[in-house]
Amino acid sequence: MMKISILSIFPEMFTPLKESIIGRAIEKNLIKIDIVNPRDFSTNKHKKVDDYSFGGGPGMVMMPQPIFDAIDSLGDEKGKIFYMSPRGKVLNEEKVREIAALDKATFLCGHYEGIDQRIIEHYDMEEISIGDYVLTGGELAAMVVIDSACRLIPGVLAGESSADEESIYSGLLEFPQYTQPRDFRDEKVPEVLLSGNHKLIELWRFEQSLLITKRERPDLFEKYVETHKNLGKEKNKVMEKVLKMM
Ligand code: ADE
Repeated sequence: MMKISILSIFPEMFTPLKESIIGRAIEKNLIKIDIVNPRDFSTNKHKKVDDYSFGGGPGMVMMPQPIFDAIDSLGDEKGKIFYMSPRGKVLNEEKVREIAALDKATFLCGHYEGIDQRIIEHYDMEEISIGDYVLTGGELAAMVVIDSACRLIPGVLAGESSADEESIYSGLLEFPQYTQPRDFRDEKVPEVLLSGNHKLIELWRFEQSLLITKRERPDLFEKYVETHKNLGKEKNKVMEKVLKMM
């Protein structure tokens, strides 16, 4: 079981984690998520958690005391601590896998202009960003990290396809999918998918993946071409065709 702790002054924001696949993983005891509110640890009579920034400037900064005490209350349960921040390295599948392999992890969600730097340094936190944009707080970012990591824990995606087969792992984006009906408002499912010819279907899907990746993520496409010089006779042919279309 992976033990996840969340430090947030808005614990109610995490109710989505009770739903769907992550909710089921909690019920199955594959993960345990505890949310700790630093405000409950504030020694201030008004339960204050933030104050003005030394040196001036707009916005409030989260103070060390409530967060230090909240973290210390976790004892040995905290594991590695991640601070959700647009200043961190941008999350990718490699980092997600690294987090999924931990048996304990803590996610600190900031608000206002940020948190006192001494918190980050004292606990040797790793800062993680989920992208080059600014959120109003770290809660949504923490949920993104937790969701993407938990689905890699064995047993969490019960029945569903193995995570290893997914596009990001192969280096290509996913091919288009179709289901019933074969004809919907005059839009038809590609004939090859109804052919029952598995070899042809695989090659068609491969070609679609290449085309979509080339169009949407030329960076990934280039990397794929560089690292897949020999795909076998048939896939090589598909690759040549796609490269000629450039
Ligand atoms: N907090 C505010 N913006 C963020 C971002 N982009 N990633 C992670 N945490 C954040």
